Formats: sequence, C-alpha cells, structure tokens
Amino acid sequence: MTTRPDRTLADSLSDASLAVHGGIELDSTKALRTPLVMANSFALPDDPSEISWSATAPGLYTRNTGVNQLALERKLAALEHGEDAVALASGVAALHAVFFTHVRAGDHVVVSDVVYEATWRLWTELLPRRYGIEATFVDVTDPDAVRQAMRPETVLVCVEAIANPTTKVADIALLAEIAHAGGAILMVDSTFTPPPFYRPLADGADLVVHSLTKFINGHGDAMGGAVIGRTDLIEPIKADAMVDVGGIISPFNAWMIQRGSVTLPLRLRQHFASAARVAAFLDADPRVAFVAYPGLASHPQHELAARQFGGDGFSGSFGGMMAFALDGDPDLQNRFVAQLRLITSGFSLGHDDSLIVHTAAEGPRTATYPEEFRRYGHLRLSVGLEDADDLLADLAAALDAVTR
Ligand SMILES: Cc1ncc(COP(=O)(O)O)c(C=O)c1O
Repeated sequence: MTTRPDRTLADSLSDASLAVHGGIELDSTKALRTPLVMANSFALPDDPSEISWSATAPGLYTRNTGVNQLALERKLAALEHGEDAVALASGVAALHAVFFTHVRAGDHVVVSDVVYEATWRLWTELLPRRYGIEATFVDVTDPDAVRQAMRPETVLVCVEAIANPTTKVADIALLAEIAHAGGAILMVDSTFTPPPFYRPLADGADLVVHSLTKFINGHGDAMGGAVIGRTDLIEPIKADAMVDVGGIISPFNAWMIQRGSVTLPLRLRQHFASAARVAAFLDADPRVAFVAYPGLASHPQHELAARQFGGDGFSGSFGGMMAFALDGDPDLQNRFVAQLRLITSGFSLGHDDSLIVHTAAEGPRTATYPEEFRRYGHLRLSVGLEDADDLLADLAAALDAVTR
C-alpha cells in the first residue's frame, strides 16, 4: 500500500493540499480515489494464526473497521492535526461514544450551559437517570464558575467552541487548563468551527467531536460523526462504542464525506465571507432586534473569537452560523421565514444551501440563553454557498413583506 502524500511531505503541506490529499492510500488497484467497498466481511487467511483478533483489526468485519471508514479517519486526523480519529454514524453517535467510553457511573461531568439539544438531553435526562452520572451545567465564559463546578470525581469537561445556537464562544486554552488542573479531559464539539478555521487540539483540548453531517461533508447528503484526539483516548472509543455498541459509519457515507471534505477549506471561505456580509446587513436593519454572530463587535466574546479562531488563511473569519430575531411578536419570525424564497426552512447546517430554523422563546432549553433570545425567540441561520447578493435580496424582501 502506498500512502499519499508521504509522511515527510504531509508535515509541510498547506491546509488546502491536505484537504485534497490527506489520508489517501493507494491499494492494489492503484485507483487515485479510495474505492467504495460495500462489503460486510473479508476473506480470512487459511491459517488462523495469521488472523489478527484485535477488535479493531481491518480485514475482518466492517463493524470492526471498514476500508472507507479508515480512509476518512486518516483524512480527519490529518485535517485536525490529531493522532487518531474514529468515524461514526452521526454527530450524536460521536458525542455519545465519548460519554459512553470515557465516563462511568459515579463520575461527574461539567457541561456548557449552551450546547446542542441532543448533548443537553443526554446530560439532563438519559445519562444521569440511567447510569447515575452527574452533570453540572455552567456558563463556560465564566472561568471561576467552571473552576467551582469541578469536583474530585469530575472526569470530563464538555463544550462547543461556538455554541449552538447562541454562538457563545468558549476559551478553549483556558478551559483545557482548568480541566487538566482538575484531572479531567476537555472535549470540544467543533461542529461550528471545522479545520482549518480552528483546531481545538492545538489549544489543549483532548478530544474534538464533529458532526460530519454538517460543514465537513458540506453537501447535505450523508450523515456521520467523528472524534479526533490521542490514540490512547480514541482506541477505547473504537473498541467500546464502535465495535461493541455498533455506531459504525456506513461505507457509503464515509466515502461521500471523504469526497465532500476535499473542498472544505475552499467552501469554508465562501460560507464565512457571505455570513459576515449577512450578519452586517441584518445588524444594520432597525427591524432586526438582535444578531448573535462572533464577527460583530457587539458579540460578548468578539475579541476572544478574533484571537482564537482564524487558522491559516482564515484570520478575520468568524464562521458561517448566526442567530437573530426580528423586533416584534415571536410569531413574526414564522411569518418572515414563510416569505423567504431562496433560504430554506430546514434543520441542519453547514450545507451548500442556506438553512434557517425558528426556535420558540420559551422552553426548558432556553432558560440559560441570553435575555433577547428569551424575549423574541430566535432564527438560526446557516449561511450556504449561494451568492451573497442573492441571500441579502431574499432577506430584504422577506423583511419588507412582514413589516409593511
Ligand atoms: C453542535 C452540534 N453537535 C452535534 C450535532 C449532531 O449531529 P448529527 O445530526 O450528525 O447527529 C449537531 C446537529 O445539529 C450540532 O449542531
């Protein structure tokens, strides 16, 4: 098997080149693209003593390790500058894989008070009730609150680099310091902040989680999730959550996501440039009650975001995600969304098409959101790859239609 690019070259490659070449290994066919291998099992050697019985050995059974899964994992490890990676069936499968593998009954975890809904449900309901693991939710922008939340039995601190949906920004280097001082590991869900825009491992995070469903695949047509980090933390996730719980990614999805990831740096540039224009446009309109976007000077962690993000070639970029609301009754957001012609109302984010979702003001989930989110509700907007002028025109026309 030939690894392309070879190791010495890989170390010196820029992000765009890594996204194209990272993780590719030529097999006996010499195909320049990793072939899609839709096989559940592989022919075993005649001599059983030649079989590797390790749980994650390749060439046995696809739940233990598949060809396309491996190729995707190599690519993700290269992109995040991590030692190892595990690809799983969805972002939530990846989150659960970390929790299932690295947290046990009687342990305690510290969780950001603004996290993706499934993470929140896992830590408010499922894991504490079923497995007796305690979670403390804390405002991760308050280092003293995080320090106070740590206990001797705290094993994990769990945050999002830019939080879904409020866009609160976590100081990863500081949180890594606090977690490590308390003997815990730091897991960062970096779904809103993909590489090369940001690499949490370089700031001291131990594990990075991605919903590959989002920016990394980028085309809205394959679900997947991944965890990237040191081999001693990733290998048990493969053995426990992948092989024994079975959250394996399908070969086809792994192949699709590897294909999508080739253009990641290129796509991110366009997402982020358009998002900055959209955020400025909304922010300047008096009919808009608030815009939460780390690129705006009014964002509470704007300076942190400017300092922390912007890996190679992305300085001055702040991501493709924002939340905003119109000044009026909460139902105004629904009427506004109904008027949009180009931006689509739908879940998910980081796709080529711009997606918007409305979340009501009230609910158990919004209690820790900023006051303006609780007053107006909010619209979460994922800025896609359409021309920015077309997006601004769509937003302007919908605004005019509901405020006439
Ligand atoms: C921050 C974040 N993490 C994880 C997930 C879950 O990803 P998936 O839908 O691939 O399970 C999402 C989904 O929206 C998300 O926004």
